Amino acid sequence: MSLLIQNGRIVTASDDFVGDVLVEGEVIAAMGPKLAKPAGADVIDASGKFVFPGFIDPHVHIYLPFMGTFAKDTYATASRAALVGGTTTLIEMCCPARGDDPLEAFELWKSKGAESACDYTFHMGISRFDETTEAAIREIAARGVTSLKVFLAYKGAFGIDDGELFQTLKLAKELGLIVTAHCENETLVSELQRRLLSEGKTGPEWHEPSRPPQVEAEGVHHLMTFAEMTGAHVYCVHTSCREALEAVQQAQLRGVQAWVETVIPYLVVDKTYAERPNFEGAKYVMSPPLRDVKHQPVLWNALRSRLVSTVATDHAPFDFHGQKEMGRDDFTKIPNGIPSVEDRINLLYTYGVCRGRIDLPTLVDAASTQAAKLFGLYPRKGTIAVGSDADLVVYDPAYRGKISAQTQQMAVDYSAFEGWDLEGRPTIVTVRGQIQVCDGKFVGNLGSGQFLARPATHF
Ligand code: URP
Ligand code: ZN
Ligand code: ZN
Ligand code: ZN
Repeated sequence: MSLLIQNGRIVTASDDFVGDVLVEGEVIAAMGPKLAKPAGADVIDASGKFVFPGFIDPHVHIYLPFMGTFAKDTYATASRAALVGGTTTLIEMCCPARGDDPLEAFELWKSKGAESACDYTFHMGISRFDETTEAAIREIAARGVTSLKVFLAYKGAFGIDDGELFQTLKLAKELGLIVTAHCENETLVSELQRRLLSEGKTGPEWHEPSRPPQVEAEGVHHLMTFAEMTGAHVYCVHTSCREALEAVQQAQLRGVQAWVETVIPYLVVDKTYAERPNFEGAKYVMSPPLRDVKHQPVLWNALRSRLVSTVATDHAPFDFHGQKEMGRDDFTKIPNGIPSVEDRINLLYTYGVCRGRIDLPTLVDAASTQAAKLFGLYPRKGTIAVGSDADLVVYDPAYRGKISAQTQQMAVDYSAFEGWDLEGRPTIVTVRGQIQVCDGKFVGNLGSGQFLARPATHF
């Protein structure tokens, strides 16, 4: 099976040229100008289109028991949505509850991936560290999951205490695992929530004031100090504001090995969305919260300068009806999350590249290459190079359309970006040489995605 993609503008994190890509089987066999067509090869004309490496979303939730309910997607719906949006690899947070057995949880999450059309892997959530945890982490790392996730928030649910954080980081350092972290000070969150509720402030517009930038920055500073004391490599997920970025930057100057992720909602929507009347603001409740609009240019600038390494989604889909509504009388009960796995690349392209905020190589770097490098997938994923997996996105910048819940693949009853204009979209998407999207529609096979075992690289 060979596939020749001709005359596309091939864009990686470091290259930008017009040429052809030849796929043989599951991998890229050649690239360059005017490649000869092997007998029997299928040909795709990519004239006037971009050819990107398959995008990697390093922070999604698919199977997620959370806040008294379950996130709506399955791997069938989420991988379809991801692929239509140009994402070919998902890294899901495996989020066991505090009492769960880590190995059983890992196998449960992994079993859900069997119906995926994308390739996939996990960050292993550590919600408890006791005398059994070290052996479990060693075993899970040996099975190819070489990144961990800790929550410094969600008191009483996923959150771990400082002793557990220290033990986790110490072991991660020994094993060369990177530790991803949700950084917010959980005590401040619960005290501020209590104060606001006692003042009768119960609507979704009070979610942001219950977790202001200082609360996030304190969580980041806290993680940085623990990373400094243990030497562990850390990755701050869903970073939303200037104060948190500054806390990372200061730690980096002290020698802490730390990386920053932001997520697409923070780049394009702000806290006024969560202030919308008739409880519509609940659609925009996630943690850390959407911020004042003044943080948006800071995040775009940090992306351009590479202080922010990756743009993920933190895809966490809860219906407006029946799920977000659980918090109608109390914002602390609104399931947190904004679905966006389908929209990330189109939003980054339209509202980033087309508006002059970032260039194309920065888009590729932040949405694919950096995640591959940080999480042990490079150069198999994250670039277009001979020998790399043939995960390719042929992207049409002439497409014009709108985002709508009516037409989306995500299994959720609203879009946070309803009616927004798009100025491009993927037309063809391949995963290891197989065409999964054609003319913007999913045509692939559920279950064809592979679990990606990864080596440890963060020593
Ligand atoms: O609001 C969010 N972010 N929901 C998903 C869980 C998490 O904190 O990542
Ligand atoms: Zn989080
Ligand atoms: Zn602290
Ligand atoms: Zn998350």
